[in-house]
Amino acid sequence: MYKIVEKEILAPNIFSMDILAPRVASSANPGQFVIVIADETGERVPLTICDYDKEKGTVQIVVQSMGSSTKKLAVLEKGDYVKDFVGPLGVPSEYVNEDIEDLKKKRILFVAGGVGTAPVYPQVKWLHERGVEADVIMGAKTKDLVILEDKLRSVAGNLYVATDDGSYGFHGLVTNYIEELVNNQGKEYDVCIAIGPMIMMKFVALTTKKLNIPTIVSLNPIMVDGTGMCGACRVTVGNETKFACVHGPEFDGHLVDFDEALKRQGQYKTEEIKKDEAYKC
Ligand code: NAD
Ligand code: FES
Repeated sequence: MYKIVEKEILAPNIFSMDILAPRVASSANPGQFVIVIADETGERVPLTICDYDKEKGTVQIVVQSMGSSTKKLAVLEKGDYVKDFVGPLGVPSEYVNEDIEDLKKKRILFVAGGVGTAPVYPQVKWLHERGVEADVIMGAKTKDLVILEDKLRSVAGNLYVATDDGSYGFHGLVTNYIEELVNNQGKEYDVCIAIGPMIMMKFVALTTKKLNIPTIVSLNPIMVDGTGMCGACRVTVGNETKFACVHGPEFDGHLVDFDEALKRQGQYKTEEIKKDEAYKC
């Protein structure tokens, strides 16, 4: 059992939890994820790591309460326990093994979409702590759904906020903001790292391809075991079959078959809705 030592509501239906899991915290790196099971009947929920404190032994996750499993997590409070907390899983971000002096010369742009802002934070923080300043575009549907803005601002080179409805910051999608920065404000980037809904990552990859900016995306397909055994997280990257849980979750965004990934991600929608209805009863 893993104790919830902190819980904070970040936005409607979005909350963060700090979980006491010293072994996971001690080996966590940017780009990795965990699988959380709320209780004996809970499903395995893959969640990207938002932050970790190796001294305190805590790992922070950010959860959007959507289906029955995330709703089970949502009702837990500080002092409660989750049954299982497995990780860190997946391959750390590529730059973790790069020479820091080389990284400092790179102009890096992160694109964070909605709840995908949570996994962007530890990456930007990791780079900032090593003297590498990255720009960040964060997008949300509306002002109320902008999360972690202060935390990101404290570690980003420049933070650009966009909302779909124009209620805060730039009025438009993150893809519009990329084009605005590059085409109208003369910004240049050597690499883009995009994390958010699959549809956003698809369109970010299409935009950066046009602009000639190499792009990494963090895929979040359906996962079951998270250890490469079940094949649920299968994706096609550069015509090769990859398992997001062990080969990723980060891949070259210009090589990902997003249409297939989107189709596979939605294949259990009917069952998910039925389970959610049953949970409400
Ligand atoms: P959202 O739908 O509010 O989208 C966030 C931003 O993405 C928007 O503000 C917009 O700027 C951009 N966007 C969305 N659709 C776009 C399009 N078609 N073209 C260009 N830009 C577009 O995001 P949300 O509701 O917070 O997202 C929830 C989803 O994010 C869930 O499905 C969850 O699984 C996923 N998620 C992914 C990761 C990951 O690791 N990739 C991490 C956390 C959450
Ligand atoms: Fe089973 Fe990746 S989740 S192979």
